[in-house]
Amino acid sequence: MKNFYVIFKSIYGGVVYMANKVLSWGVEHLDKILHNALTPNSLVVIAGHAGAGKTTLASSICYANALAGLKCLYVSLQEDKLKLYANMRNLGIDLEGIEGRGLLHFVKLPLIAEADSVSDVVESISTKIAEVKPQVVVVDSITPLLKVFGGKVSERAFLQNFFAEIPHLINGVVVLLVEVPRHVNEVDLGELEFVADVVLFLKVGLERDFISRTLEVGKVRNAEVSVARMPYTIASGVGLKFLPSTVLEEIPSRIRDKLELPCLDLGTVFKGNIIYVTYPPDFRPKHMIAFMVGVALLNKLRVLIISYKSPPEELKEFIVNSLIKAGLNEDLINNLLNNDNVVFKSLNPCGLSYVQLGMVEYELIDKYKPGMVIFHGVDILAKLERISREESYWNGLINEMLNLKKLGTVVVRAGSYDSETYNVYASLSDVIYRFHTTEENGNIKHKVYVWNRGDTPKLITEEQINACLEKLASKLHNEIKIRALTK
Ligand SMILES: Nc1ncnc2c1ncn2[C@@H]1O[C@H](COP(=O)(O)OP(=O)(O)OP(=O)(O)O)[C@@H](O)[C@H]1O
Ligand SMILES: [Mg+2]
Repeated sequence: MKNFYVIFKSIYGGVVYMANKVLSWGVEHLDKILHNALTPNSLVVIAGHAGAGKTTLASSICYANALAGLKCLYVSLQEDKLKLYANMRNLGIDLEGIEGRGLLHFVKLPLIAEADSVSDVVESISTKIAEVKPQVVVVDSITPLLKVFGGKVSERAFLQNFFAEIPHLINGVVVLLVEVPRHVNEVDLGELEFVADVVLFLKVGLERDFISRTLEVGKVRNAEVSVARMPYTIASGVGLKFLPSTVLEEIPSRIRDKLELPCLDLGTVFKGNIIYVTYPPDFRPKHMIAFMVGVALLNKLRVLIISYKSPPEELKEFIVNSLIKAGLNEDLINNLLNNDNVVFKSLNPCGLSYVQLGMVEYELIDKYKPGMVIFHGVDILAKLERISREESYWNGLINEMLNLKKLGTVVVRAGSYDSETYNVYASLSDVIYRFHTTEENGNIKHKVYVWNRGDTPKLITEEQINACLEKLASKLHNEIKIRALTK
């Protein structure tokens, strides 16, 4: 068998050297997590299930680096050019555009028959590389080649060695895609696993009724990577989209910035605290949501209310009614609850996967930059988790809470009580207000168990809560008057 060095060197004139360059994944999150992994002379293997996003990721690597002036050669054994360009265009990857600027060359190799020799394949790829002189080469995918030569051990090894040598010969990056059947979760890459510098595995699974996608980092030679699994989605105009939370590796420190509360009964709340408001399933103290909104407004914090249960207008109505009852004038309330101060959103947790839900929430937080986020109806999420037993729920939740803590955002999680949910949600919290119902002389009364991290818990009455809400209403009233005077 002819040495591929001879084949390659005879047709490839020269190499464009890129000193100390780090190439982009074309996905911001991966550039952060897998920073330094894509350097010249790297062989990258992206293995994955059907429809996982292999072609999308390979195309975004091609596209992002072409935008930075590096030439890409896309060798396809499966994808039709026009179909690929159209699909990628929908995902925000303009392959046609970079082709027009001479930065992308697409070549479709005919499917190889058993009779063809491995050196024919090597020669046709080498010729194309010599002609284009790319810094990025994608082979989508090498599975048909490995299948054809699979039985012939020496030819398969020759082919793998050839792919392993290309990065050095072009002083660039080679991305090889490998197809893995849907039910297979451990992939045997043979020799490739050892010669590759980066191995990623894109997996597709099910989470409740939704598709769930996870990127597993198999190996990264040039960089220290501690995150091994990252959930992602594929979104129009974006391509691969990751939850930003997975970046956080440390628990953020406490912020010593106290909120002004209208009375002492409700303990102390700092910025970045998580407050858990819980109540019996047959009693909804909606005035507590109004109270929290009032506290935010008193402290000049914008509030984002995300409800998993009630539509925005219903929740707004409850808040308005509670504040009227506490003594505030309706016009003043409507003035206070404008979109600049309070944003209402409702999300159906049964209509989105946990990862998608997290992404929508991050986007809302990023858009409105609230000082307080109220999650209303969190018991629904806990109940869904108990049915589905998805660990991604807890990973996502804890990371989201830590990210909000880092931003100094006050988080209020409100939902009805049950013992299993309570244990986990309470352990996440810094402040707890737990309502329970008692009977006194034939009358139903509510008591509130108040706990602050580091303090002894205490019990207060419903009357104390109502008095506190009235005090808050009067403080807000004065605040508005002061604001009007200073305008
Ligand atoms: N515009 C879009 N919006 C959201 N998702 C999309 C869009 N276009 C494609 N997808 C999703 O991306 C997936 C295809 O991604 P891609 O072609 O990169 O996967 P692949 O791993 O290369 O698949 P295959 O094994 O079939 O080659 C589809 O399964 C589809 O669910
Ligand atoms: Mg593909």
